[in-house]
Amino acid sequence: PTALAGRHFLKELDFSAEEFRSLIELAAELKAAKKAGAETRYLTGRNIALVFEKTSTRTRCAFEVAAADQGAHTTYLDPVGSQIGHKESVKDTARVLGRMFDAIEYRGHGQGVVEELAAHAGVPVYNGLTDEWHPTQMLADVLTMTEHSDKPLTGTAFAYLGDARYNMGNSYLVTGALLGMDVRIVAPRVLWPDDTIVELAQHLAGASGARVTLTEDVKKGVHGADFVATDVWVSMGEPKEVWDERIELLGPYAVTMDVLRATGNDNVKFLHCLPAFHDLGTHVGREIHRRHGLTELEVTDEVFESEHSVVFDEAENRMHTIKAVLVATLARPARPS
Ligand code: CP
Ligand code: NVA
Repeated sequence: PTALAGRHFLKELDFSAEEFRSLIELAAELKAAKKAGAETRYLTGRNIALVFEKTSTRTRCAFEVAAADQGAHTTYLDPVGSQIGHKESVKDTARVLGRMFDAIEYRGHGQGVVEELAAHAGVPVYNGLTDEWHPTQMLADVLTMTEHSDKPLTGTAFAYLGDARYNMGNSYLVTGALLGMDVRIVAPRVLWPDDTIVELAQHLAGASGARVTLTEDVKKGVHGADFVATDVWVSMGEPKEVWDERIELLGPYAVTMDVLRATGNDNVKFLHCLPAFHDLGTHVGREIHRRHGLTELEVTDEVFESEHSVVFDEAENRMHTIKAVLVATLARPARPS
């Protein structure tokens, strides 16, 4: 078995920097093998439960395609169609699914739920997004950064603009700190990650050599960045009422061409985990337009559609990196090293 066999992936810090980097390398290998039509199946006969208490396009599809490519079978439990949380406790659900499946993916609200599943399932559990963390997304983002930059990660600077008090902001901060990167959180102070997470990042930076910056100043925050990232201003599970306040607070943190120019880097790349509000192609976007007269929010359509944008490479990489997590934790027979 590989070093990661049987492990959970509940948050970024479940893995050491070396383990995290090994997953990126494995994902790159698996991606190249698939593109060459030479993929080896390591998961034949495995069964994986996909439990979603929030909606998803990328994460669900990434798990399903990755599993199918590798010979594993998935069962999807949607946000309303199972007993979990309604008629059956998380602990009982964990013990039932653990008797049938070789691994469980879970997307939901509190991190406590995915931790409880892991404590009782007896099989690897993967966090497909909670309010606090989005660890599989970080693997995709780091793979995308390595593909679009010649610099080593320790020489790479990225700035995250927007709501930094939720899964993406938290995850970027600790991932950058873990991997020794130059990570900047650029947001109004009230939307900075919780103090405990900032302290954790500073502690990690002490060991990794990372540079950790939190600032309200957009120009200063993005100067010299190789990558600029953002996320939606209101996340799944948050009340609709926060929209007005977020639009007010975050307007100056929208990623525009001026923001990209302020990096001073003609080659700067733009990242977004998606879904994104950059046009009127969604119900929520049209509602925002009716109420606020805006057609784009966290990123302008100009940036999103520009040559700087690598968001669809990032989306594709969800699949290759999730495949790496599955192979590293569940391979059968042992993956040759
Ligand atoms: N980025 C991401 O997690 O997308 P989905 O919500 O579509 O899974
Ligand atoms: N912060 C967003 C990420 C979506 C992938 C949310 O939680 O809705």
